Amino acid sequence: MARINDNFLKLKAGYLFPEIGRRVGAYTDANPDKAASLIKCGIGDVTEALPAAVREAMHAAVDELGNRETFRGYGPEQGYDFLREAVAENCYAGLNIGAGDIFISDGSKCDTGNVLDIFAADGGNKIAITDPVYPVYVDTNVMIGNTGDADDEGRYEGLVYLPCTAENNFVPAIPEEKVDIIYLCYPNNPTGASATREQLTAWVNYAKENDAIILYDAAYEAFIQDENVPRSIYEIEGAHDCALEFRSFSKNGGFTGVRCGYITIPETVTGESASGERVSIKQLWSRRTSTKFNGASYPVQRGAEAIFSEAGKAQVAELVEHYMGNAKLLREACTEIGLKVFGGENAPYVWVACPEGLTSWDMFDKMLTEANVVITPGSGFGAAGEGYFRISAFNSRENVIEVCKRLKTYL
Ligand code: MLT
Repeated sequence: MARINDNFLKLKAGYLFPEIGRRVGAYTDANPDKAASLIKCGIGDVTEALPAAVREAMHAAVDELGNRETFRGYGPEQGYDFLREAVAENCYAGLNIGAGDIFISDGSKCDTGNVLDIFAADGGNKIAITDPVYPVYVDTNVMIGNTGDADDEGRYEGLVYLPCTAENNFVPAIPEEKVDIIYLCYPNNPTGASATREQLTAWVNYAKENDAIILYDAAYEAFIQDENVPRSIYEIEGAHDCALEFRSFSKNGGFTGVRCGYITIPETVTGESASGERVSIKQLWSRRTSTKFNGASYPVQRGAEAIFSEAGKAQVAELVEHYMGNAKLLREACTEIGLKVFGGENAPYVWVACPEGLTSWDMFDKMLTEANVVITPGSGFGAAGEGYFRISAFNSRENVIEVCKRLKTYL
């Protein structure tokens, strides 16, 4: 008899975005005439074409693979030096992060889940997550047995939930209790909030005082407009001793389908073994990577490298400007109709309080069936997301203008 991992049975319903897809599919099946004009602002999936510099680099890499003289087979599991060096130079200049601290992957969703392999499971660590939160952090902890069952509101026993509310500008207060691993994501998915230098300093100080590790998800760093907002946790003194950073080419370079990201792990981040020995997290991750991964594909890594060319940087800047222009229009439309709006200034997500009396899923249904627009219900990101909805700014300008029109018509 093959026994299954019973932890999977604790998971609530389906993963949020496939669940939204299922509901949208049922709606369009029942209303085929609405399908063509349906606008999707749910999942944060990019819509604009891959930058030309990326395409050219990927074409050239494919041609190299098509020639016996320049063909390459397995690459280094941790990523090619050309990309690790480009990341270190372009993303971490002056921050004391070297190419060897960077591990290239097939994206941050996988990285944030996979990283749990190297930490003790089954209650060995007290895990803190924000609420609302990117659901991957919670579900992957449930899967490996770091939680008990969920309560009626979907909060899992054993996790420490850090409420992010309008009152704290969606940056959680430092907990009273001691935790071992803390997930932070800024600019934030889903609320679009950003964290100040002071707020991140308080978290780094807490982590150092409590011998905790911060898992810092900076997947939306490229969308920061305010130059005072830190782009990396390593801008904060002490972070090199207690933080891992996740970054992605998905949203800046349009790689959601191409797949490439990386984890940054300085040598000085350590954890404790059962016998009390200090062990380098980077060494563990490197070991795990060589065993379970054969590296992101060569053409993809060449494409990612091209993001850092002069042409690539200019093309990415245009994409960011496009999506942030969308966010501005969405913010303005929601404000104009009297809704309370957050985010969308340093992040491509606009977080909106539902009109009085409507829950997040009521709002999802109303937007779908009346406005023919897909949004994401805030409660899908956690109990504290109830009463909010998220609008993704990843779309064409034409669609965003139409969404603004429909918001004004139907709300
Ligand atoms: C989101 O919509 O929250 C993101 O697109 C999900 C992801 O990046 O996996």
